[in-house]
Amino acid sequence: MTVVGPFGLSVRDQALETDVQTGLAAVEEGLLDATKSEVPFITEAARHLVRAGGKRFRPLLVMLAAQFGDPHAPGIVPSAVVVELTHLATLYHDDVMDEADVRRGVPSANARWDNSVAVLTGDFLFARASRILADLGPEAVRIQADAFERLVTGQILETAGPREGQDPVGHYLDVIAGKTGSLIAVSGRFGAIMAGADERVVDILTQYGERLGTAFQLADDVLDIASDSHESGKTPGTDLREGIPTLPVLLLRARAAEYGRPEDVELCALLDGDLTDDARLAEVLRRLRAHPALDQARRDTIRYAEEARASLAPLPECYAKAALEELCDAVVHRAG
Ligand code: IPE
Ligand code: IPE
Ligand code: MG
Ligand code: MG
Repeated sequence: MTVVGPFGLSVRDQALETDVQTGLAAVEEGLLDATKSEVPFITEAARHLVRAGGKRFRPLLVMLAAQFGDPHAPGIVPSAVVVELTHLATLYHDDVMDEADVRRGVPSANARWDNSVAVLTGDFLFARASRILADLGPEAVRIQADAFERLVTGQILETAGPREGQDPVGHYLDVIAGKTGSLIAVSGRFGAIMAGADERVVDILTQYGERLGTAFQLADDVLDIASDSHESGKTPGTDLREGIPTLPVLLLRARAAEYGRPEDVELCALLDGDLTDDARLAEVLRRLRAHPALDQARRDTIRYAEEARASLAPLPECYAKAALEELCDAVVHRAG
């Protein structure tokens, strides 16, 4: 048994291990290739976050999904590069919107340079992703375009907030399915399509990715409160400071509205206040970490991961399926 990939999956098959390791190594090369510009400064800015690391969760999913067809088919690695480049581009943009200073354990592009550099570098990465996509054919371009539309719509809906009378938790779930589920669903879909898997298998792996992606974002939102920056490579409490409602906070607010316990009402008031002050933010984080709403959010996250696992049921038993099942646990129990 070997431990493979960023989530330490226990892979019990030599061929699977080799395919995944070789594929991920080729993706690294592809990322360096795709971030090379004739302009040295663009190369530096585009490689800034590539070099800083990251889990490469989406490429890993592409490689595992590709096991349900020919895992050596030529479109697999480029499609994984496209998905990671798209993800990377959205991180450059997201850190501008969230005014985040730290990403992957290094200064975000907006902190190291400025917002213009971060936005334009993100655009450069999209351009490079599109160029690779063109060689994968019109169906791949369409799939990516649709997912990208959903991703951007999710980000915009997050900024806009719920409509008048809309349930805030329902709004939040729509947002995270769009901003995160969409691209992770494409990762499963691309791996299966490029490997030439049956249409039924492609659909199963797409649905699995969508559910896993939702669980992944739920876990990310719990980690914004629960984890340290050395684990996540990000600044804890960024969502809170930016006033982005995430599930733990929505659950806290629902409890405060229903039971009116003074400590809950007080914590809501603190959340509504100015959290640019580090000491206030630390106090809010301390209280939230000890609050039952955080445990409830953790339980909900596990429920979504279980749904992702359940969608794999019709697939034949194999080592890749076991790895995809294990990924459901890994996503919710990760530290960063
Ligand atoms: C961060 O994604 C943004 C979310 C959608 C939660 P990842 O947690 O995959 O970030 P990296 O690629 O490992 O840095
Ligand atoms: C990121 O959402 C989603 C995309 C980048 C599309 P978040 O804002 O929650 O992610 P982090 O916490 O900054 O990684
Ligand atoms: Mg963010
Ligand atoms: Mg964001």
